[in-house]
Amino acid sequence: MQRFFAPCPRGLEAVLAGELAELGAADIVAAEGGVGFSGAMSVAYAANLHSRIASRVLWQVGSGHYRSEEDVYRGVNALDWPQLFDGTLTIRVNVAAVRSPLNSLDFITLRIKDAVCDKFRTQTGVRPSVDTAQPEVRIHAFLETERFTLYLDTSGEPLFKRGARQMTGEAPLRENLAAGILKLSGWTPDLPLLDPMCGSGTFLIEALQIAHGIAPGAKRDFAFEKLRGFDATGWDRIKAQAEAQPAPNPTPAIFGSDLYGESLKLARVNLAAAGFADAAPLKQANILEISAPGAQGVLVANPPYGVRLGEQDELAAFYPQVGDVLKKKFAGWRAYVFTADMRLPKLIGLSPSKRTPLYNGALECRLYEFKMVSGAMRREKREG
Ligand SMILES: C[S@@+](CC[C@H](N)C(=O)[O-])C[C@H]1O[C@@H](n2cnc3c(N)ncnc32)[C@H](O)[C@@H]1O
Repeated sequence: MQRFFAPCPRGLEAVLAGELAELGAADIVAAEGGVGFSGAMSVAYAANLHSRIASRVLWQVGSGHYRSEEDVYRGVNALDWPQLFDGTLTIRVNVAAVRSPLNSLDFITLRIKDAVCDKFRTQTGVRPSVDTAQPEVRIHAFLETERFTLYLDTSGEPLFKRGARQMTGEAPLRENLAAGILKLSGWTPDLPLLDPMCGSGTFLIEALQIAHGIAPGAKRDFAFEKLRGFDATGWDRIKAQAEAQPAPNPTPAIFGSDLYGESLKLARVNLAAAGFADAAPLKQANILEISAPGAQGVLVANPPYGVRLGEQDELAAFYPQVGDVLKKKFAGWRAYVFTADMRLPKLIGLSPSKRTPLYNGALECRLYEFKMVSGAMRREKREG
């Protein structure tokens, strides 16, 4: 059994814990910003391939107590790094700290790097070189008040990079945040889905992959493939099983629209790169002028977030109109609006049935759920 930690966007820890449980993880502990779990190395392989929510999967390779930089140096240097990866690979060290007594994170990062490289030099005569842009091996250190924990990153590029080429427009959502929002919406591939402000198409692509049973990591490589002890046969088996998964719905009803042709162009390029050219109808339309593509379904939207004062005023005038459209045209639907604008529920004129705090990077946001009552139900309520 090995111990792992998978960081994720804050607010999605419980969703990630559920995903990891389905993948066979044990001793699951949700923390702020990620989830710890235990399992065989094969569970980490599967989490890299299948998790839509994790940003990375970190493998715990050591830990210890410390008071000074030198304590950390000694603890890192004591680990048998040459047994973990080859000294010809390039490395990068990342340090995160919570209430650490050390003065400089830059300095301790350097000392950890030295401790690893010194170990290689004395034991093998070869030392890894540093590549901060595209390292082959990433070492993460987490410093608390008196404890340090060392991890090897089994993912490499963060997992929200799904592998297909992505062109990004205005404020695109990270794929794992979009996937988390879809999960929280309760959308399933048998339901129609509409993103009326689709931008570069992040929600659409995540939903199409889910409906077609395509693992999020199917088109990319992972750092664990370069580590010593990599079980190529086991990995091939996990990938083959993923490819053999049946599609939950090969003909899902997924729709996107956006006010701007430029955004739609991006969405088209991204859908095609993900292998979904023409799999979702895309339409240039103002959200204020659209109709529901069905009697019921799930609407997800990530409206623009106004930073400047003028934009704030424009949005204050825009939200009530969006509320009217939802009331008049989307009876029978559930709508999920993801925004950092806490004024939204008041201005939209609908009371949210749920509000989930979520972070987009450091930005505190909310996912608001609005259940649009169907015309018939509204009548029944009035009559009742
Ligand atoms: C924050 S971005 C959405 C980003 C998207 N979720 C993604 O991941 O790429 C907001 C989008 O709303 C679109 N938009 C702004 N006003 C709109 C309107 N009135 N009707 C439809 N779309 C609109 C913008 O063109 C932009 O693409």
